[in-house]
Amino acid sequence: MQRIILIGYMGAGKTTIGRALAKELGLQFYDLDWYIENRRRKTVPQIFAEVGEEGFRKIEHNMLHEVAEFEDVVISCGGGTPCFFDNIDYMNQQAKVVYLHCEPEVLRGHLLMGKTERPLLKGKSPEELTGFIKEQLKQREPFYAKARYTLDVTLMDN
Ligand code: S3P
Repeated sequence: MQRIILIGYMGAGKTTIGRALAKELGLQFYDLDWYIENRRRKTVPQIFAEVGEEGFRKIEHNMLHEVAEFEDVVISCGGGTPCFFDNIDYMNQQAKVVYLHCEPEVLRGHLLMGKTERPLLKGKSPEELTGFIKEQLKQREPFYAKARYTLDVTLMDN
């Protein structure tokens, strides 16, 4: 049985790389945000608007416990998933966790190009984005660093 979980900051390419990895290994691919949206019949921005970040984190925690039981899967998580509750420890118990590390400047470029609506970045100007990413990465890195493997995707073209 194989189970791989990808973590990392928004814009690191978790979904793109996860999908490709699953195909390569012949595993099923799950994206936790999409799974949440399907199960709740609402988009992530809608959930944030209705129950706030705190409510979203609870839902995310519960949904993580559903997908991380599936077998022969690659799961890409949201950027914040490992940083709440005991999620990262649970992930490490359940799967091989891979942290996709990426430098802030590259993350910024991906986020500015991307079409995904991200509630945490709403209203941030391109100039504010770099500082915000650096600050949040500092807070999140201790959680990301608990992954069993780290892959630097800074120079990867995805
Ligand atoms: C979040 C990242 C998003 C999504 C939500 C919160 C975060 O996922 O789960 O908007 O806290 O970093 P992606 O990393 O796929 O953008």
